[in-house]
Amino acid sequence: MEDGFIHFFEPGDAPTLLLLHGTGGTERDLVPIGQSIAPGATILSPRGRVLENGMPRYFRRLAEGVFDMEDLHARTDELAEWTRTTLEARGIAGQPIVAIGFSNGANMAGSLLLSHPGLLAGAILLRPMTPFVPEPLPDLAGTQVLISAGTQDPLVSAENSQELGALLTRCGAAVEIRWQPGGHGLAKGDLDAARGWFASQHW
Ligand code: MLT
Repeated sequence: MEDGFIHFFEPGDAPTLLLLHGTGGTERDLVPIGQSIAPGATILSPRGRVLENGMPRYFRRLAEGVFDMEDLHARTDELAEWTRTTLEARGIAGQPIVAIGFSNGANMAGSLLLSHPGLLAGAILLRPMTPFVPEPLPDLAGTQVLISAGTQDPLVSAENSQELGALLTRCGAAVEIRWQPGGHGLAKGDLDAARGWFASQHW
């Protein structure tokens, strides 16, 4: 890998939160959300290395909702490797990792789940899409996933959110889908749901 990722790190308790921002975001965006969902948790928050008109993302897209699959797979492998080596270097490789991703970051988190089973103990996917359907399916038994979807999301249809939930369930993950009465942007309901869900898990 060239240079690694610009990132924010804050030491704390297990599990480690891997925070993945939306298009145009930075490594700082989700820090307050992570701290509110899991107070005191270790935070690792990389900034996406792809620029789309100057806006950081985690992988290239050809159009809105149409992914450059080759780039997605390569960048997913790169982020998985960087996450492992960064946490090893900090002496916390053994801590479970829970990804919290929004939009493009949620799609990267979904891709990490599907391509690197065992890396993440769980994930909170805020407004995700189905990134791809792997063949064969990975074994995600023991992985906890919350999908927070918007009933009026103009970018992600309800069918797509349900399809992602069904796909992860077929892989063996324990999946909960929570619907918020809004669009693609996050609202208080997302955070309340995420906080409650996170606290109810045994990490
Ligand atoms: C994506 O490219 O990951 C999705 O279109 C979400 C977005 O970033 O707008």
